[in-house]
Amino acid sequence: MKAWLLNGFGLDNLVLGDTPTPTPKKGELLVKVGAVSLNFRDKAIVDGIYEPHLVPKPLIPVSDAAGTVVAVGEGATKFEVGDRVNSHLYSTWIDADPLPDAPAHCIGMPLPGGLAEYMILHEDRVARAPANMTDAEAATLPIAALTAWYALVDFANVQPGQTVLVQGTGGVSIFAVQIAKALGARVIITSSRKENLERAAALGADDLVNYRSHPKWEDEVLRLTAGKGADLVLDVAGGDGLNQSVQAARAGGAIAQIGFLTGQTANLDIMPVIFRQTTIRGIAVGTLKAFERMNVFLENHAIKPVIDTIYPFAQAREAYEHLARGAFGKVVINVA
Ligand SMILES: NC(=O)c1ccc[n+]([C@@H]2O[C@H](COP(=O)([O-])OP(=O)(O)OC[C@H]3O[C@@H](n4cnc5c(N)ncnc54)[C@H](OP(=O)(O)O)[C@@H]3O)[C@@H](O)[C@H]2O)c1
Repeated sequence: MKAWLLNGFGLDNLVLGDTPTPTPKKGELLVKVGAVSLNFRDKAIVDGIYEPHLVPKPLIPVSDAAGTVVAVGEGATKFEVGDRVNSHLYSTWIDADPLPDAPAHCIGMPLPGGLAEYMILHEDRVARAPANMTDAEAATLPIAALTAWYALVDFANVQPGQTVLVQGTGGVSIFAVQIAKALGARVIITSSRKENLERAAALGADDLVNYRSHPKWEDEVLRLTAGKGADLVLDVAGGDGLNQSVQAARAGGAIAQIGFLTGQTANLDIMPVIFRQTTIRGIAVGTLKAFERMNVFLENHAIKPVIDTIYPFAQAREAYEHLARGAFGKVVINVA
């Protein structure tokens, strides 16, 4: 089969080549990949800044895929040839509490990903793709949508009328706007770009803050909430900006620590966390059960993923470059 193979770090070492088509073993599905979507994680893996010691070479990269089952291994009964499925990043994390060894079973690194004509997925570790979505749309769900869902619903149990602060207009954040609005929350969103803020408003975001023209964006959040702060902050930026998220969250509020766009370490001022009694919770995407619940919710609320650009398979590297420049919503690669 044709596959993109990462032979070393750097985009120049991501090359289109031939590799044997895998055969499904016991309980496994052979999936013809329809589309994949890119996440910051995929780029960080190629750049060699995401757990580089765990990256096998060559690696078929990209964790988020949607496709069609074309063969089933011995004893696999849950899916049939023709069913459409989604990969699930933390493939062994099915329900309940996080597993200590979950990162060892991640699709797209260290396990092979979906940037190939075919991939193997275990029948116990896939979600059914929503019937009302194309493969390109469904491919956006496994990380970005599920992370937003898990933070908003499984962690914070956001209620109508509560205020959610969303940072930036990337993949996770745009899903967060759509899901939080469908939950009845008020959404404040930040962005470096005026046009992206306007597009977020068109998706339902209530209040817009430009974090370039307002570097102290937490003050804007406090102003917009009459000094109270947001009930939940989805922090995708990471770094020392975590201190600003603490200020932007209400007393007794919560921060879902999702990202590390500006840094993987933070110099955290502990006293405000104590005085404001802030809960800071790391989020690692979510469970398969949450994925299944989310897909029902997305269908019921007719939420369609926001796709910035769809690239053909041959232009996978251009898709990575697009992600690096910044996208509004998701960057997708059609494989089929
Ligand atoms: N823990 C998890 O489970 C999990 C899951 C998914 C993603 N993540 C992490 O979350 C982060 C975002 O992921 P993504 O896939 O949504 O990325 P993405 O699609 O590449 O989004 C990047 C966007 O983030 C915004 N941004 C950049 N720097 C910012 C800053 N200092 N403050 C506020 N916004 C900023 C920019 O929006 P504007 O152009 O609008 O300024 C940029 O376009 C990454 O670090 C990723 O690794 C973690």
